[in-house]
Amino acid sequence: MTKPHVLCLMMTSIDGRVLTEGWAIDAPSKIFEDAHDALEGDAWLVGRVTLEEDFDAAGDWERGLATGPIERTDWFAQRHAKGYAIAIDRSGKLNWKTDNIDGEHYVAVLSTGVSDDYLAFLRQRGVSYIFGGEDEIDFAHVLDVLGRELGIKRLLLEGGGGVNGSVLNAGFVDELLVFVLPLTDGRKDAPSLFDIAGDWRGSRKLELLSNDTVEGGIVKLHYRVSNDRG
Ligand SMILES: NC(=O)c1ccc[n+]([C@@H]2O[C@H](COP(=O)([O-])OP(=O)(O)OC[C@H]3O[C@@H](n4cnc5c(N)ncnc54)[C@H](OP(=O)(O)O)[C@@H]3O)[C@@H](O)[C@H]2O)c1
Repeated sequence: MTKPHVLCLMMTSIDGRVLTEGWAIDAPSKIFEDAHDALEGDAWLVGRVTLEEDFDAAGDWERGLATGPIERTDWFAQRHAKGYAIAIDRSGKLNWKTDNIDGEHYVAVLSTGVSDDYLAFLRQRGVSYIFGGEDEIDFAHVLDVLGRELGIKRLLLEGGGGVNGSVLNAGFVDELLVFVLPLTDGRKDAPSLFDIAGDWRGSRKLELLSNDTVEGGIVKLHYRVSNDRG
């Protein structure tokens, strides 16, 4: 298997929540972006909600483009991009406006249940797609395809809690780098660092690799994740 090394990079409140909207201090986006660059990933992966909210992919996508059935096989519009921005979008909801962000090529991870029309829309936009399963996403398969087909070796997993929880639960998060901000959140329904839907496959031990106080009382914690359950 050609699975990339997966590093999860996030900002949280002291209580582990990740919805930055409404926080008492501005999210330190420069610190986050510098950490993102320093990790030297060749791709980053987010959930459907994060892409929709933070990357201008909400709203209705263009219907009526399919001229016939489209085979359920992975489709790559680009294979030599300078980087890849990947979203888990099982039902085909994202309204992609373009095929890249800052030169990083967009890739959608879909279920085979999406419509022909949605696949035609992705092709028209030049967004690559891979199939992750019939309904649930099989992350072992997805990571293998990303490594094998696109040569991705270091993948940054960047939220939200839903997708982080899914990849963690599947046993594929190798490292965790978290900026803990000096604030509380407390909203019961706000997403957290890891939100696992479905069967919980256990807690994971962490090995602390480093801890630093960055500016303004922000604490940076870097861990190796043990994927031995227990
Ligand atoms: N603080 C930070 O560092 C940080 C970083 C990133 C994001 N965020 C915030 O996090 C919030 C979003 O978090 P979220 O947890 O609500 O959403 P999310 O993780 O961005 O997306 C969750 C969605 O991804 C799809 N998904 C995830 N796991 C799946 C699986 N195993 N199988 C199939 N589909 C799967 C599902 O899409 P469907 O519902 O379409 O099936 C699910 O609803 C945003 O407000 C964002 O701003 C914060």
